[in-house]
Amino acid sequence: MIRRSLFILMKACLKLMSVIEEYWFNVLLKIVLFLNRVEYGEGVKTVRSVPDFNVNLKNGKIKLGSRITFNNYGEPSTNTKCKLMVGANAEIKIADNVGLNGVIIYAKKRVSIGEYTLIGGGTKVFDTDFHNLDWKERRNPQKMNEARIIPVEIGSDVFIGTNCIICKGVHIGEHSIIAAGSVVVKDIPANEVWGGNPAKFIRKVIG
Ligand SMILES: CC(C)(COP(=O)(O)OP(=O)(O)OC[C@H]1O[C@@H](n2cnc3c(N)ncnc32)[C@H](O)[C@@H]1OP(=O)(O)O)[C@@H](O)C(=O)NCCC(=O)NCCS
Repeated sequence: MIRRSLFILMKACLKLMSVIEEYWFNVLLKIVLFLNRVEYGEGVKTVRSVPDFNVNLKNGKIKLGSRITFNNYGEPSTNTKCKLMVGANAEIKIADNVGLNGVIIYAKKRVSIGEYTLIGGGTKVFDTDFHNLDWKERRNPQKMNEARIIPVEIGSDVFIGTNCIICKGVHIGEHSIIAAGSVVVKDIPANEVWGGNPAKFIRKVIG
């Protein structure tokens, strides 16, 4: 009887601690958003940690809609936390009701994500190759980072599985699904399931 009561008490304490922790993470989130000059709507929240924001002071911008959720460590497919990085004169724009699970987004020019899109744990979205594709130029410290940059646009109601890489210039049409572990290098039309490396057409979306 005493053991059972202690067990219930311990569970209640743990629950209380996680509620306090969640509250604290969300207070910290608001501070971090403010410090990074991120525009955001109502109901933006974070779970299990606070995402990293790295916004270039030379007109880098992050615009978040309402009810966006940042899931960090702890979900079955999430072993990292969300990171959003924006270069000079670049922008990340995320519409309402988007869910990000330990996702890393890097915009040198522009990455946009449509409403109700869900992105699985460990996925990365980049609008640049980061480095020069000419090996001679990569030896030159002044030129090694002169990379191609093409904006990425992810439509509404898209579902991207865990551990995908969405490369520069890609446009993913609304309602489409990207299978777990895919590398997307080409545009994906609306209402299609694509997967693999490089991602290829699998079938049409049902429904
Ligand atoms: C894409 C997905 C939704 C397809 O599910 P499904 O409709 O049940 O598909 P099936 O298992 O019947 O497979 C259909 C075809 O897609 C292929 N396929 C499925 N998953 C794939 C993947 N991750 N990569 C490459 N091809 C894949 C199958 O090999 C099969 O090909 P075939 O017709 O030539 O045999 C599912 O495999 C998936 O990746 N879900 C994402 C899970 C996830 O990461 N969730 C996020 C957690 S945060």
